[in-house]
Amino acid sequence: MFITFEGLDFSGKSTQAKLLHEYFLEKKKKSILLREPGGTKISEKIRNILLDKEHLEMFPLTEFFLFSASRSQLVNEVIKPHLKNKYIVICDRYYDSSSAYQGHGGNLEMKKVDIVNDFATGGLVPDISFLIDLSPKEAFSRAQNGNSVKDRIENKKLSYYKKVYNGFLEIANKNKKRFVVIDGSKPIEAIHLEITGIVNKKILINK
Ligand SMILES: Nc1ncnc2c1ncn2[C@@H]1O[C@H](COP(=O)(O)OP(=O)(O)OP(=O)(O)O)[C@@H](O)[C@H]1O
Ligand SMILES: [Mg+2]
Repeated sequence: MFITFEGLDFSGKSTQAKLLHEYFLEKKKKSILLREPGGTKISEKIRNILLDKEHLEMFPLTEFFLFSASRSQLVNEVIKPHLKNKYIVICDRYYDSSSAYQGHGGNLEMKKVDIVNDFATGGLVPDISFLIDLSPKEAFSRAQNGNSVKDRIENKKLSYYKKVYNGFLEIANKNKKRFVVIDGSKPIEAIHLEITGIVNKKILINK
């Protein structure tokens, strides 16, 4: 099973991905937790280029291809072999993030974005994608509460995040079969319970 977490920065993806991974480990299930961009030696190097605050001149299309290159390496080096070995693969962001951020946020032609996403991943589609739905305003207020240093992409404006947010909702709506939209404003534990419930149901159906 291949599970992805999507949503705006600070929506709670990493929190939930980690909780789900720990939940599976506790149940003695084989599980691996990955993050995008990154997860392989090469992908981590691409991550550094992408998030470097000095790279202000980067075009949306350059950004998109770097994400896609990083993802392609991750899929072939790690995700596909683990799925073959019956692991549950949990990925903190996947190509829907590219569609929302670089595609919708960067005003790229979505038809072409879809083609590159498919090409870069060899057509590997998640079994479940959780969209942690937190509005740009709520996400921004969470960002201001924390004291983490922001990267190049997080430094972009609220107007950009509004486009990305609407992009995510559109993507979830177009891919209803695999997407589950989760209210990200609920407490962490409540969201985790909701997610494990949905995943367990899906595992039972697939058996
Ligand atoms: N349901 C929640 N309610 C309140 N705060 C939360 C909730 N989930 C996560 N947080 C807090 O919000 C912050 C961001 O969470 P997290 O790092 O999981 O988000 P993220 O979606 O992975 O962000 P990024 O895209 O920047 O990696 C953290 O401080 C986390 O503790
Ligand atoms: Mg995160």
